Amino acid sequence: MKLASMRNVLKAKGLTRYDAPPDIKGRERPDRAMRITEAVAEKYLRVLTAYEYNPVVAGHNPDSAMTLVVSHRQVVARDANVVLLRFESEDGAALPEWHPGSHLDFHLPSGLRRQYSLCGDPSDRHGYSVAVRRIPDGGGGSVEMHALEPGSSVTVRGPRNGFPFVGEGSALFVAGGIGITPILAMVRAARELGMDWQFVYSGRSRESMPFLDEIETFDTSRVFIRPDDEFGLPSSTDLLERAVPGGAVYCCGPTPMLESVRRGFASSPAAALHFERFGAPPVLDGREFEVQLVSTGEVLTVPADESALSVIKDRLPGVGYSCQQGFCGTCRVKVLAGKAEHRENRLTDTEQQDEMLICVSRSEGGRLVLDL
Ligand code: FES
Repeated sequence: MKLASMRNVLKAKGLTRYDAPPDIKGRERPDRAMRITEAVAEKYLRVLTAYEYNPVVAGHNPDSAMTLVVSHRQVVARDANVVLLRFESEDGAALPEWHPGSHLDFHLPSGLRRQYSLCGDPSDRHGYSVAVRRIPDGGGGSVEMHALEPGSSVTVRGPRNGFPFVGEGSALFVAGGIGITPILAMVRAARELGMDWQFVYSGRSRESMPFLDEIETFDTSRVFIRPDDEFGLPSSTDLLERAVPGGAVYCCGPTPMLESVRRGFASSPAAALHFERFGAPPVLDGREFEVQLVSTGEVLTVPADESALSVIKDRLPGVGYSCQQGFCGTCRVKVLAGKAEHRENRLTDTEQQDEMLICVSRSEGGRLVLDL
């Protein structure tokens, strides 16, 4: 399909946008073609991370809260540990549009906040679907999501897109486990658009991998289903050998898989890497520092390779957090003394003067006194 006609199909389906929105600080972004050119030119210098993009849908404020009701619940992994939940508005009204790669922020009845990628059909404006793996020894969010039944209400914010899909050219999709959720929406779009695509799907075992019944119906020359218990843990070569020269790689999965893809990307023929990770990224160039909790006076040491959030939540299990990557803003905290080293793009310059995101930001040197 020619690019122009593909673009028209995409626009008609609302699958992507071509005018880059301002970034979260309101700065203009380079256009998409320029981003791809940059990605090619700087392939050996950088990769495109979710952190750099946070496009929102025009005309909808993703910070406004919506109350949604569970309308359907379905088990979608053979081990029964992943459920697909469909949410609709209370009055049946159409919901804000979304594009593959978007997620919702869920504000759960317990007060926990969690983000889940949308994995339904973007042209279905009357329901949002997310799939959630139950992690019994996790932070509690997935267990609470699994307890939702048809008729349950939740508050959500979004959709936001930190992992935008460009529906043109060639693409290799790489998903690990529940990382399938944003990737599946992209693969479906690539199929509809007639793109040149390949898909590598890994997981612990076939039983644990959601949506296999659907994925097994896709063109087998384009899909490689790769359970670890049949093939062993994948190397970066295993994950990237189907990369198309000059194309894009979209990857979502656990941190070791992402690191493997990032390491192998420079040796692949692909031109751009887009990824979304679960949980906290590794701390790079960290130095040990101290934080003091004003509520108790306690002083905690944050090791060079840990985040302030990970140390603080051991002492304050109820501390707010969600993405752990510096883009949702849930973990923002007032800094009452000391100077933070900001490692995010979420807060404005003014906000950064006396606030920080404790999941990624650190201290410029001395102790930080936090309003916790
Ligand atoms: S938890 Fe999302 S910004 Fe810190």
